[in-house]
Amino acid sequence: MKEVSISEVWRKKYPARVVVAVSWDEKNKRANLIPLEWFMQTSFAPPLVAISVGVTRYSHTLLQKEREFVVFFPSKKMGKEVYYWGTHSGKDVDKLKESAVETEKAKYVTPPLIKNAPINLECKVVDTLRTGDHTIFVGRILAAYIEEEEEIILNFGEYKFGGIKEKEILFTP
Ligand SMILES: Cc1cc2nc3c(=O)[nH]c(=O)nc-3n(C[C@H](O)[C@H](O)[C@H](O)COP(=O)(O)O)c2cc1C
Repeated sequence: MKEVSISEVWRKKYPARVVVAVSWDEKNKRANLIPLEWFMQTSFAPPLVAISVGVTRYSHTLLQKEREFVVFFPSKKMGKEVYYWGTHSGKDVDKLKESAVETEKAKYVTPPLIKNAPINLECKVVDTLRTGDHTIFVGRILAAYIEEEEEIILNFGEYKFGGIKEKEILFTP
């Protein structure tokens, strides 16, 4: 066994799956999207998920303020969009307007659902935990949806420290 730097360990685990959290920007009256690799289920009853969001992200500000989000699993057709959402900030651009995806009104939260996403979950933030340079937002799932025909991106290439290069992204499993 070889002892290595921590960053070398993370490099080895890629490629990884990705989800996208949608939050609500009340000031600009628009939704914002952030691709996240750091996502997990944390409880069956009550049904909870956790997302870890960098404190510098615009989504962090929105999540702290509105305390609700939609999290969706992007379809294989959304690879280019995921790349765009993950390399631009909602501080500067209306990410939804700049991409081809369509939305649908959610039942319990203000951020919209994303049409044709294989999975959409409506969540209310019930807890937060500051962990270093990220905050873990724990969301209680209030409604869950699937789109049977659509396939999830299982493999989002190599998201590395310091960014992602478009040519490195693999859109297939
Ligand atoms: C594949 C992928 C995975 C990512 N995972 C995370 C993550 O788990 N947590 C996070 O804070 N940022 C993550 N990012 C970075 C954000 O998506 C990126 O900084 C985004 O532009 C922030 O947008 P915002 O400023 O509108 O919130 C990821 C990006 C990509 C492309």
